[in-house]
Amino acid sequence: MEKVQVKDAKGKLGVLVIGVGGAVATTFVAGTLIVRKGLGIPVGSVSQLATIRLGKRNENRFPKIKDVVPLADLNDIVFGGWDIFEDDAYAAARHAEVLSANDLDKVRDELQAIKPMKAVFDQNFVKRLHGTWVKSAPTKWDLMEAVRADIKKFKTDNNCDRMVCIWCGSTEVFTKISAVHETLPALEKAMKENSEEIAPSMVYAYACIAEGVAYINGAPNLTVDMPAMWDFSAQKQVPILGKDFKTGQTMLKTVLSPMLKTRMLGLSGWFSTNILGNRDGEVLDDPGSFKTKEESKLSVIDNILQPELYPELYGDVYHKVRINYYPPRKDNKEGWDNIDIFGWLGYPMELKVDFLCRDSILAAPLCLDLVLFTDLAQRAGMSGIQTWLSFYFKSPMHDNEHIAEHDLFIQNVKMKNTLRSIIGEETIDFMD
Ligand SMILES: NC(=O)c1ccc[n+]([C@@H]2O[C@H](COP(=O)([O-])OP(=O)(O)OC[C@H]3O[C@@H](n4cnc5c(N)ncnc54)[C@H](O)[C@@H]3O)[C@@H](O)[C@H]2O)c1
Repeated sequence: MEKVQVKDAKGKLGVLVIGVGGAVATTFVAGTLIVRKGLGIPVGSVSQLATIRLGKRNENRFPKIKDVVPLADLNDIVFGGWDIFEDDAYAAARHAEVLSANDLDKVRDELQAIKPMKAVFDQNFVKRLHGTWVKSAPTKWDLMEAVRADIKKFKTDNNCDRMVCIWCGSTEVFTKISAVHETLPALEKAMKENSEEIAPSMVYAYACIAEGVAYINGAPNLTVDMPAMWDFSAQKQVPILGKDFKTGQTMLKTVLSPMLKTRMLGLSGWFSTNILGNRDGEVLDDPGSFKTKEESKLSVIDNILQPELYPELYGDVYHKVRINYYPPRKDNKEGWDNIDIFGWLGYPMELKVDFLCRDSILAAPLCLDLVLFTDLAQRAGMSGIQTWLSFYFKSPMHDNEHIAEHDLFIQNVKMKNTLRSIIGEETIDFMD
């Protein structure tokens, strides 16, 4: 297998986090700083903990991914970002109440040094939040230019060799794809004309791509999931990826659905409900933001079960997803799934899942992996949609010629095979 030419991971990697004062962002940033000081274990991070089989099974070669794949060193990461609130990352992390004060104090100075840049924000896109640390400019194009200036300044001030941007901001209201998103000239014109169809996330993403900064979309927002941005990222040779981190309930769905299908067990209904009390829960309490999340969560089952091939098993599935804002639980989400299945001769059975999880604890390691693997992709000359990282997303992005893969284990094989080919090892088909 020919080895891909990968540029060395030398120098600083700037990681720009949009929504840097949020629960996911601060848990990711603080956790990474704690881990690199050797004061914590990066549980949940494939890039840091997982091994990768190389060669035939009997060769017994199972190195850690980070020992054979040229990823950036955690010590070379510099964090920055934007938020609609002025709090530094320490104050914001205390407010989010995910990590204990004891843990946060281990990296207090570093967190306090992370001060958000002023955000691009429009309340029409996140109804429940009232931003106070926000840029103003005559048009969305001007706002985009201001974000470009932020990126350039951050790069120079921190002496970064390269940069990656990750959206950990709030879920924006549902935006239907329209003519302004179809071509790059139409998108640029719409930004200059202040079109309502240009969300703040698109302004950031355009600026990033223009600056050669890879863009990762952790929310279900439309952002880079449109032909105009696909073209722009190909033109600028920048990786783009998303949408919506696959952390809790949907991760379980993409494990349980393949199990049912592999054994040819039927499904008649899947009712998923959640209680959640953090700021994300508050934002998702707005019907517009919830619709964006709902679309993302609903696509999974049909894609995996292929009802068109198995109408007698999956032709009539009732699938419902609910998210309820319930403040007492804060970041500790509880997700219930009631799954009505059927077996031999159609006899009904039920599966119940009650996942008492911690939203940001599940999301933080995904952020770290995504940032490191996306930086690798960029150094390996890979641009456009990074489908090999679908493993991390609820609704993996794909262009009009491809179909998303949702099965977590197929996604895992795809990701590891891509890593194998990047380092010049044979891909594995499990036939030996
Ligand atoms: N397990 C998970 O936690 C999980 C899984 C999938 C997706 N997500 C998504 O990740 C995102 C972050 O979740 P969270 O729990 O950290 O939410 P959060 O509300 O704690 O954080 C979001 C942050 O984004 C900021 N923000 C909003 N609009 C902004 C803008 N235009 N520019 C800059 N900053 C902006 C907010 O002020 C806030 O600090 C949400 O969209 C959520 O739906 C989270």
